[in-house]
Amino acid sequence: MTVMDRPASIADRLDDKTLLRSESFIGGQWVTGTSSFEVSNPANGEVIAEVGDVGAEGARQAVTKAAEAFETWKKVSPFERARILMKWYDLILENQADLAKLITLEMGKTYREARGEVVYGAGFIEWSAEEAKRVHGETLPTPFPNSRGWTIRQPIGVVGCITPWNFPNAMITRKCAPALAAGCTMVIKPAPETPLSALALAELAKRAGVPDGVFNVVCGDAQKIGPVLTGSDAVRMIGFTGSTEVGKLLMRQAADGVKRVALELGGNAPFIVMDDADIEKAADGIIASKFRVSGQTCVSANRIIAQPGIADKLVEALEARISRLKAGDGFAEDSDLGPLVHMEAVSRVDALVKQAREAGARIVTGGKRLDEELGGAFYAPTLIDGGDPKMDVACHEIFGPVASVYRIEREEDIIRLANDTPYGLAAYIYTRDVNRVHRLTEGIEYGMIGVNAPMVGAASTPFGGVKESGIGREGGKWGVEEFTELKYVLLGGVDG
Ligand code: SIN
Repeated sequence: MTVMDRPASIADRLDDKTLLRSESFIGGQWVTGTSSFEVSNPANGEVIAEVGDVGAEGARQAVTKAAEAFETWKKVSPFERARILMKWYDLILENQADLAKLITLEMGKTYREARGEVVYGAGFIEWSAEEAKRVHGETLPTPFPNSRGWTIRQPIGVVGCITPWNFPNAMITRKCAPALAAGCTMVIKPAPETPLSALALAELAKRAGVPDGVFNVVCGDAQKIGPVLTGSDAVRMIGFTGSTEVGKLLMRQAADGVKRVALELGGNAPFIVMDDADIEKAADGIIASKFRVSGQTCVSANRIIAQPGIADKLVEALEARISRLKAGDGFAEDSDLGPLVHMEAVSRVDALVKQAREAGARIVTGGKRLDEELGGAFYAPTLIDGGDPKMDVACHEIFGPVASVYRIEREEDIIRLANDTPYGLAAYIYTRDVNRVHRLTEGIEYGMIGVNAPMVGAASTPFGGVKESGIGREGGKWGVEEFTELKYVLLGGVDG
């Protein structure tokens, strides 16, 4: 492996119209791989970058660097850590346009959404910087005369993070900012679709003064890098956002070393619209939740459960909105939806829609691939009505721009259907009846519930799920606590 002295700047990379070449970021150095892989733009299939794969050896080096850096970073005053994080935050906002371009190029979301993601992601850094100064213990009563007890919170150590392609910027900052604030060091393995956003964040972290070895990014084959992170004694925690299947695998691997895991996994969000709801607001909420990032978020509305009294009106309001949505290149100003992440995703979503059609559901609008028409991984914004809640499209996480409506009358049946899934990440309820709010929010098994609100994530609030949707919380004070160990100290025999 060669150590490279680059890159000059993110803007240089973007202005260079030739293929971007990139390396991993280990111990503050740019490191080439032993082989490479390509990154392509899903809007047109063009290869935009070639990135070195550092494999297991690169991952081992990164863990060693992170373990060395931990010895000093954990002792840096939280006030100083906060200052460095705030500098990182400022640099990210200064480079918002470039970072957003990278996101749109790598995974296709619209440039407008990408700019929003950069601000969303930076918010976790700002919050964590402020929270760094509030990581503290407590004094405790003890049963022993003249003794004193207290707790301290200390950073857990080196954290291995495996991050997804759907929010290639914000899912890194949501994990790394609280970890760095707490005094941990990181090895990040970004999704192979979106390494450039991770590397750009590393470049800005370096410029902000994050010491070498504190923030490492290793690119390459997950099958080789993942087991190094889960298997190393030096790594004390694994953070992951992605599928439940991979989350379970990581959890099994991490079990041998009894490592802490923080897992943000799949979802199957019910979007419940009760007959007293404001239908126009509910329809707007469904569009915001369902079609954000072309439906490729873990918290996207997956099943719209409507009471029959208002279902026709809701379907009509949705049809009007969905048929106006325009899919297209994320850089085009009039695009409401970008492409899916790759062609396999288009085929997977199309198969779900076909199965629904065969099962007798009505395709109100959309329901077709747009890849040939638009020359990229596009799928038409789709509305399905009248389906059976046992259809594949209702039981699986769609991860695409497909909304499907199910009509259920009784509140207890709505609760039963909402809970009839192994997942429990986000749910949404639209009603104006406060008693229904209490019964439904307490009856459904989800980690986050938006009541008359279609977006649940924020820097200040706990993000995470129950059941097979994950373990742990990101965001707010909980996000920082996740990266700390609680230590109890008992001081005996203090003279009175
Ligand atoms: C996700 O899809 O994993 C994150 C969505 C969000 O933060 O809103």
